[in-house]
Amino acid sequence: MCGIVGYVGSQSALDVVLAGLKRLEYRGYDSAGVAVIADGSLAAVKKAGKLANLEKALVDRPLPAGSTGIGHTRWATHGGPTDANAHPHLDNAGRVAIVHNGIIENFAALRAELADSGHELASETDTEVVAHLLADEFAVCADLASSMRAVCRRLEGAFTLVAAHADVPDLVVGARRNSPLVVGVGEDEAFLASDVAAFIAHTRSAIELGQDQVVEVRWDGVTVTDFEGRPADDDVRHYHVDWDASAAEKGGYDYFMLKEIAEQPKAVADTLLGRIGAEGQLTLDELRIPAQVLKMVDKVVIVACGTAFHAGLIAKYAIEHWTRIPCEVELASEFRYRDPILDARSLVVAISQSGETMDTLMALRHAREQGATVLAICNTNGSTIPRESDAVLYTHAGPEVAVASTKAFLTQLVACYLVALYLGQVRGTKWADEILPVVRDLARIGEEVERVLETMEPVRELARSLAGHDTVLFLGRHVGYPVALEGALKLKELAYMHAEGFAAGELKHGPIALIEEGVPVVVVVPSPRGRSVLHDKMVSNIQEIRARGALTIVIAEEGDRAVVPYADHLILVPATPTLLQPLVATVPLQVFACELATARGNEVDQPRNLAKSVTVE
Ligand code: F6R
Repeated sequence: MCGIVGYVGSQSALDVVLAGLKRLEYRGYDSAGVAVIADGSLAAVKKAGKLANLEKALVDRPLPAGSTGIGHTRWATHGGPTDANAHPHLDNAGRVAIVHNGIIENFAALRAELADSGHELASETDTEVVAHLLADEFAVCADLASSMRAVCRRLEGAFTLVAAHADVPDLVVGARRNSPLVVGVGEDEAFLASDVAAFIAHTRSAIELGQDQVVEVRWDGVTVTDFEGRPADDDVRHYHVDWDASAAEKGGYDYFMLKEIAEQPKAVADTLLGRIGAEGQLTLDELRIPAQVLKMVDKVVIVACGTAFHAGLIAKYAIEHWTRIPCEVELASEFRYRDPILDARSLVVAISQSGETMDTLMALRHAREQGATVLAICNTNGSTIPRESDAVLYTHAGPEVAVASTKAFLTQLVACYLVALYLGQVRGTKWADEILPVVRDLARIGEEVERVLETMEPVRELARSLAGHDTVLFLGRHVGYPVALEGALKLKELAYMHAEGFAAGELKHGPIALIEEGVPVVVVVPSPRGRSVLHDKMVSNIQEIRARGALTIVIAEEGDRAVVPYADHLILVPATPTLLQPLVATVPLQVFACELATARGNEVDQPRNLAKSVTVE
């Protein structure tokens, strides 16, 4: 939520910052703004709406050329999306500029104090107080980093702050608590950003900051301290970003989402790479959780939000079936408020693409306080959630830019299966007879996802034909139920349609009342092989809704003849073991939602009101 960029170096700061903001626009698109320092003064332009509005405003009011600058793209929290509330915020003298991601919880008290001492605040934001406080501190010590430390010590809540001051033209200062901030180190230039995507075109050398740290960034060096001013350079992690600028570009696709859907076979294969041995044994050495600890685990609790939560719901079926360890799945936002029962034998799995979701972060902190071991499944190297976990299993989806999660979801599923299978391997449950064959199927699953993608044209056609509808319902059983939830979520967020996912067995307990003539219902049908009782029940459910006028859209396994008479539209997916079916069954639902959104004229990559990483609770 909110994207931040800072730059010091020899290039035009405005160009670098604007290009960085373009890469971060997925983090919020309510307003955007930039400030540059040139010729001893600071100039800023900010505009409500998308970055394009700011670019237009810059044509009318060009900024002077400078080599130090900061920028922001906003997801509004305090104060509506207006020009005045856009960042950067400046002090009354216009000498200091500040951009912020997060929420300053004690801003009301600070605002009252500033107003009493004669400051005039121009916006309704929580952020603006920081600009004024910084100016006051700087007036005393003339040191921007030490002013930032003093201000941070007074702030409550979550924040990433980046500031520049006209009196110190070759310096940008950043600070972080519970919100992301990374440093990019280039040749005679340096960057600060919410995400490496902002500077990947310039450097792949990055520094991950720790909690409660202040960083001073100059063209020739970076200095890190804690909020008390103690050196913290040894407490940061330098790393090389293992993807390049092209990975964060659309690469010929109309939308990032289309590109990311298409990248799924590779993302899945990359996430499996090196983790399955020739004999089918799993090597997850990076887990760093000793086998003894895994053998002692008597309960697995998965915490996550949104799409990642749906991956967790599917993981529960796999974990319980393959390991016989009880598994609970909980929305991270609910978890810590219900006093969950955890101890040293609990394994808590926190799933997050961004690694910054505040609800998930708070849930894992709570779990660790209760003595549980926390394993993160994450797509973002060096982000807060893996850093605060006992161990991490990275998904290798590459950068996911579209707000609606697609390839991250599939790779989260793969990681969950790996964890479940690994637990089974370590504990020796069902190893030879059941787990080994599944591992072999999993190893090939990328090819099956590829096959699904090759057959999506009828799904796109169908989606276009439904653009005028108001409601789409989704039904599933077993692992098909979370797939139905995920299909409904994708449709809500992208097509802005009423979409609900139900467990098919619940139909007759209420939801069937929603069925009327012509309502499209997507039904995810389990494999007719293996647990055919599930399949048979689902076929009955399809008949029940069809008898009441539903337009049935059936996702079924290739060769499933039983569904043919009841399917108004049939989408076939390759045969897989039941537990792996979500990896192929979700893909048509992603394509369906993306196409419906396009047909309804919606912004696919940046759906209204949403931001990609939700860094506030
Ligand atoms: C939906 C979507 C969100 C995220 C959720 C968690 O398409 O993307 O529901 O899945 O906000 O985000 P992460 O995985 O970054 O914790």
